[in-house]
Amino acid sequence: MDTLAKTLQGQFVAFDGPDGSGKSTQINRFVERFRTQGVTVREVREPGGTPIGEQVRTILLDPENEGMTLPCEMLLYMASRAQLVEQEITPALARGELVIADRFVSATLAYQGTAGGIRVDWIQKVAEVAVAGCWPALTIILDVDDQTAAGRLNPLLDRMELKGKAFHAKVREGFLEQASTWPERYRVIDATMSEDAVETAVLEAVKNRFLHEISAK
Ligand code: TMP
Repeated sequence: MDTLAKTLQGQFVAFDGPDGSGKSTQINRFVERFRTQGVTVREVREPGGTPIGEQVRTILLDPENEGMTLPCEMLLYMASRAQLVEQEITPALARGELVIADRFVSATLAYQGTAGGIRVDWIQKVAEVAVAGCWPALTIILDVDDQTAAGRLNPLLDRMELKGKAFHAKVREGFLEQASTWPERYRVIDATMSEDAVETAVLEAVKNRFLHEISAK
């Protein structure tokens, strides 16, 4: 196991970004890389990741629930997250596992906050309740422009993806704003590059956060 793999044990890293950013591909590559080295990796998926959370996910993504209010939507995402943190993430970190989250609070801030219109500082307060101090040490934002993202999306769009171009442009803006507000715990990667180039950039960002910053202290 190399130094980076050792350092990542017991750490919490989130991947996030607009729909169509190639997030799943990059998470798979990242997880495989460290599993091969012998790191126990716990992948969690948002919304969902627990039996209760998966039920919440079904409600959230069902096109029949078109009339769902924005505060209801935001609180359901947070409810799913609260269950995930207590039931899965905190125990996995305590066992020294590397936890990789497919979306986290960053998604609620971008989708329901910047794009949806709920005040970002209110969402942050609800998030304090949901995550109980369990924040990712690093959030990797895979950044893509609208056109590239649209070309990658499955034609069977879910309820969130049907929200349209202007909404998704704001989602992107939300992620970038977070990264400039919290530069120490966010990194933005240009996800329009080839899959191999994005993978290399993700790895560099992780090294930079966990090896260079820690050794600089
Ligand atoms: P996925 O595409 O990563 O499976 O996520 C499902 C959708 O849910 C996606 O369009 C982003 C959206 N979402 C939010 O709007 N707020 C959130 O807090 C989370 C976690 C996801």
